[in-house]
Amino acid sequence: QTIYRKDYTPPSYLVDTVELGFDLDPARTIVANRLTMRRNPASAQREIELYGEELELVALRLNGKTLGKRDYRIEGNLLRIAHAPEEVTLEIETLCAPEKNTALSGLYVSNGNFITQCEAEGFRRITYFPDRPDVMARYTVMLRADKERFPVLLSNGNLVEEGELGDGRHYAKWEDPFPKPSYLFALVAAKLVCQEEKFQLADGREALLQVWVEEGNLDKTDHAMQSLKRSIRWDEERYGLELDLDRFMIVATGDFNMGAMENKGLNIFNTKYVLANPRVATDVDFQGIEAVVGHEYFHNWTGNRVTCRDWFQLSLKEGLTVFRDQEFSGDMIGTSSGRAVNRIDQVRTLRQVQFPEDAGPMAHPVRPDSFVEINNFYTVTVYEKGAEVVRMYQTLLGREGFRKGMDLYFERHDGQAVECDDFRSAMADANGRNLDQFERWYSQSGTPVVQAEGRYDESARTYTLKLSQSCPPTPGQPDKLPFHIPVAVGLLGASGRDLPLTIDGKELGTTAVLELTESEQNFVFSGVAESPTPSLLRDFSAPVVLKYGYSDAELLHLFSHDSDPVNRWEAGQRLSMERLLKLTEVAAAGGELSLDDTFVEAMRKILTDDTLDPAFREQALLLPSESMIADQMDVVQPLPIHTARQFMRAEIGARLHNELLATYRSQQTPGEYSADAESIGRRALKNLALAYLGATPAEQALALAQEQFSNATNMTDRVAALGALIHANAPAAPDALNRFYDEFEDEALVIDKWFAMQATAATTDVAKVRKLMKHPAFNMRNPNRVRSLISSFCAANPVQFHAADGSGYAFWAEQVIALDALNPQIASRLSRAMDRWRRYTPELQAYMKQALEKVAGQTKLSNDVREVVSKALSN
Ligand code: ARG
Ligand code: ZN
Repeated sequence: QTIYRKDYTPPSYLVDTVELGFDLDPARTIVANRLTMRRNPASAQREIELYGEELELVALRLNGKTLGKRDYRIEGNLLRIAHAPEEVTLEIETLCAPEKNTALSGLYVSNGNFITQCEAEGFRRITYFPDRPDVMARYTVMLRADKERFPVLLSNGNLVEEGELGDGRHYAKWEDPFPKPSYLFALVAAKLVCQEEKFQLADGREALLQVWVEEGNLDKTDHAMQSLKRSIRWDEERYGLELDLDRFMIVATGDFNMGAMENKGLNIFNTKYVLANPRVATDVDFQGIEAVVGHEYFHNWTGNRVTCRDWFQLSLKEGLTVFRDQEFSGDMIGTSSGRAVNRIDQVRTLRQVQFPEDAGPMAHPVRPDSFVEINNFYTVTVYEKGAEVVRMYQTLLGREGFRKGMDLYFERHDGQAVECDDFRSAMADANGRNLDQFERWYSQSGTPVVQAEGRYDESARTYTLKLSQSCPPTPGQPDKLPFHIPVAVGLLGASGRDLPLTIDGKELGTTAVLELTESEQNFVFSGVAESPTPSLLRDFSAPVVLKYGYSDAELLHLFSHDSDPVNRWEAGQRLSMERLLKLTEVAAAGGELSLDDTFVEAMRKILTDDTLDPAFREQALLLPSESMIADQMDVVQPLPIHTARQFMRAEIGARLHNELLATYRSQQTPGEYSADAESIGRRALKNLALAYLGATPAEQALALAQEQFSNATNMTDRVAALGALIHANAPAAPDALNRFYDEFEDEALVIDKWFAMQATAATTDVAKVRKLMKHPAFNMRNPNRVRSLISSFCAANPVQFHAADGSGYAFWAEQVIALDALNPQIASRLSRAMDRWRRYTPELQAYMKQALEKVAGQTKLSNDVREVVSKALSN
């Protein structure tokens, strides 16, 4: 069942054209598929190979002749036709039942509308096809459906014809001029309305832009439309890449497994990444929409025009496109400190989610070598670590060098399905660089550890930085070879200013990018006037764990002065993490907790430093999460971690009470809501102040929260206030929750927040979650709802999920099994909540193992869940 990268063979037949005819009916949809194919000279295989899943085959004709049962073989999901001529026209008629499709892969019904999701292997649930990304064809699509129920008929490319069919049905014909792999196919047949606009492209052409939503949501499309226009402009300006169609559509659906999908010309989105107005969406939602709209749009070049040879190459498009959307978001903020805050967020995600993945049973390289179910590899490693790998090219080659590499990549590969190695070659060749060793970032899993040691020689005025690297073993990879690691370094003098850097007589400014390629290397800086404090891995120049024996004094120095904002933040994180780990130990031993003045003073200084952007201050004051603390421990103890972190929050809240209160008052954003970076930063800092104040027993904080809850005119302030009430377990919390529900009952995305806030409250135990599952608004078939309640509880309520009696794990097993019968992809995501089970106490481990075995012991289990739980049990 395991598929290996090394087993790749080219497709036996290539497809030139595909004509699809759909007679859309929720219970019984007829799909007529006419393919023109020819033998692939590059393949030794002579049989035609078509994939199909959950399809009823009605008819099959080859070059006009009906094929009987003896002319083809069906083995599992594969239909094989032997002895076919060089050139064939295949006609395939199949039936499917979209309304029964709860997996939300292929063609399904969402709130009465037809929607598709074909990546990675959903197209085979629509028709028989060589459903692999290296088969690229030209598509023509005819849609027929009841006009009243499905007034809008959309597919990829250009609308070429539409009309009536007489019997209350109508049709639309679409043509996509660009050859594409089947995973980019899409159709929508629905009752929807759109916000649309003509937009001028760089070459003078006009494109029609549309955002399609259900009628009641037309007041929430503007931000997505603005984001789309900014994305188009940005790709023109930064990479010289233009929209290649006359029409670009975004469709929002409430039932979607992932965030969004880059189908050619017809992006389909989870409503979460489209719908926003100040009443219902938070600042984070606004930012998420801009990023995801950008991401899907940027895929048009990095993914669609140049696509993947096979699914092992997924990061070729995903890592690159995440990098592009990150750069886009950074450029939209504009200011250097805004950019830094954006970067800090990326670093936090990486540490919080990707590093644990890389250290767990599902660890895999950015370009995996094998998989059982490809849907399990849409991971933070492929996406976010993949983006870091792309970012390292830019760090090594410079922005201009990176652009040259991109240009060469498109010059060589436009219209092709290629490999990660082809991208690396383009980067190397365009810059005359050897990037052979860099390949290890794609092939070796695990997070490298870089150990640094510095030595100042006063008489020689040199500073020697010794860097060494290692990488822990990961499943299937006991030994690693050295990586090519860019380490950006600065040296701070006693005044806090950067010292000028010189190596081998070369002046390197104030930040030098050192290239660590061996297991150990020395870098000697000359002309260093004083003993410096090193600022290492500036801007997080590589996805590694950096170790250096910093003293408190050095960290405080960096926290106050580092010119690199990411490392300034980092110094603060190190200061808090050290203390949190000690406090956790004390809490576990039942000792008395205390927090030193030095730390509190450092926090006070940042909080009150008005020369710093509020957004940066908020980041600097935010403590590492409970899961990040857990990652630093050999044996994880969720309750002491929680106790320690809560104690620290309460101490900061009490000892900086006056400053927090002043901040709360000074950072208000009166007047009309705006989602610009400055206002977002002010709200974030203000609401962090509220959260700290709310962590103390002071009545005043709760009064403020209640007042903010009642008077807020935007969702950011609303949920911040409600969160403060819930987390303080305030007497007013239940009533506020009820009011919130009543007010937003009709806003599905807000009700998701309502569930999620309760699911993650430390007071919410399994019994409470079970009760919430009985709420009429809960729906096991809706992925957003499942994520907001069940996944939030299992992944983000560590104290209750890891309850000593194992009840959290038993609940997890039950839900994974129930979900698996409906939607394997969602079940599989949830099953990942147990990844780190071997790091807990023996008592908890025993319960966790039992739960894992219960799931693994099910006779009917999807490949998705089976792969995850069996890897968890065996690694
Ligand atoms: N390509 C999409 C994106 O990155 C993700 C779709 C993945 N879907 C899936 N079912 N695996 O935006
Ligand atoms: Zn993507």
